[in-house]
Amino acid sequence: MFADVIRVKRDGGVLSAEQIDWVVGAYTRGEVAEEQMAALAMAILLRGMTADEVARWTHAMIASGQRLDLSGVPRPTVDKHSTGGVGDKITLPLTPLVAACGAAVPQLSGRGLGHTGGTLDKLEAIPGFRTGLSNAQFVAQLRQVGAAICAAGEELAPADRKLYALRDVTGTVESIPLIASSIMSKKIAEGTAALVLDVKVGSGAFMKSADRASELARTMVELGKAHGVRTVALLTDMSTPLGRAVGNAVEVAEAVEVLAGGGPEDVVSLTLALAREMLALAGLSDVDPADALRDGRAMDTWRAMVRAQGGDPDAPLPQAAEAEVVRADRDGVVAAVDAYGIGVAAWRLGAGRTRKEDPVSASAGVVLHRKPGDPVRAGDPLYELRTDDPGRLPAALALAAEAVVVADAAPARPPLVMDRLD
Ligand code: URA
Repeated sequence: MFADVIRVKRDGGVLSAEQIDWVVGAYTRGEVAEEQMAALAMAILLRGMTADEVARWTHAMIASGQRLDLSGVPRPTVDKHSTGGVGDKITLPLTPLVAACGAAVPQLSGRGLGHTGGTLDKLEAIPGFRTGLSNAQFVAQLRQVGAAICAAGEELAPADRKLYALRDVTGTVESIPLIASSIMSKKIAEGTAALVLDVKVGSGAFMKSADRASELARTMVELGKAHGVRTVALLTDMSTPLGRAVGNAVEVAEAVEVLAGGGPEDVVSLTLALAREMLALAGLSDVDPADALRDGRAMDTWRAMVRAQGGDPDAPLPQAAEAEVVRADRDGVVAAVDAYGIGVAAWRLGAGRTRKEDPVSASAGVVLHRKPGDPVRAGDPLYELRTDDPGRLPAALALAAEAVVVADAAPARPPLVMDRLD
């Protein structure tokens, strides 16, 4: 009985492989009441899981659907997954960059929820871009272009789709076993041979402390290896937004700057660090991704990928009807630009959604004119808020004003790449 399984976990016991297979299978088939699964998820959040339990839970989630077969793709396959952050547009330049260096990148991405952005929402700011591909289209594009970024199909880890929606409304998202199995079941089912995880740490991330982020990274690396996927994790700073743009169209524009050989230093440096890890796992460590950014090969692959998915790489991106520039009221140094505060401000401006079915605004967002450590004079522009709905400005202005601090001196910043686990 399901209630017996809940009692085992509630009392701190260990679930057997048979119990886990049955629970996940029955839940996917709709044979278990949502309140029972909610109770089990809460027991798991409070009591945790052993390494064997997490491995079996992940296995059961993969087995709830199909595992994509990428054996027809002639290049080595390698993917990247970020645990989510603010201004994290890295997938956009990274996917075509790594493909331009000789690998195939099967990137199944998600949408933003809450203050974190989603890659699919960003790409849909490009006129015509389609994020829904069939498995056959996905594989064909990987063969032809080497890069595809699209939504995961219904048949990929369906247990996770149901369970994630339930966790979202029952306060059970922040469990390391449940996050690790959720992410890894989808990445393993996607069929990639290798995976680089970008585990974010800081106010704008799920994991606010380096200890929790390390534990999550370690759990995911072990799960990947146990399923035959070569996996490496980088722990990276998410206390301040990545780059200068936070939103959808504004982040696409910044990604294109990086592909053109420019762009903010932190976005370029993280893109290259992740590309080097991916190429090493794909057996291509002799290729320098910096060359492919400089000589336009990454840009060519981006344009081919956008066209293959119905988009027009030359079409102007949507522009917001309203823009409000906020200026420094004193001389000093930018001491903080808090990732969480800026993420919530962009969300309030319309860039993000509260419920899964809500639409997002392509043009809304925040553009940072100054980053932590930059000197400013009174009257210099600090940041700009963009929206189509002026009614959204006051709340976003208040949030951004709290997130951006000008002081006499700036504290030392953590390194962008804080740790590496393999
Ligand atoms: N992303 C996922 O896919 N699953 C989680 O549980 C958390 C973040």
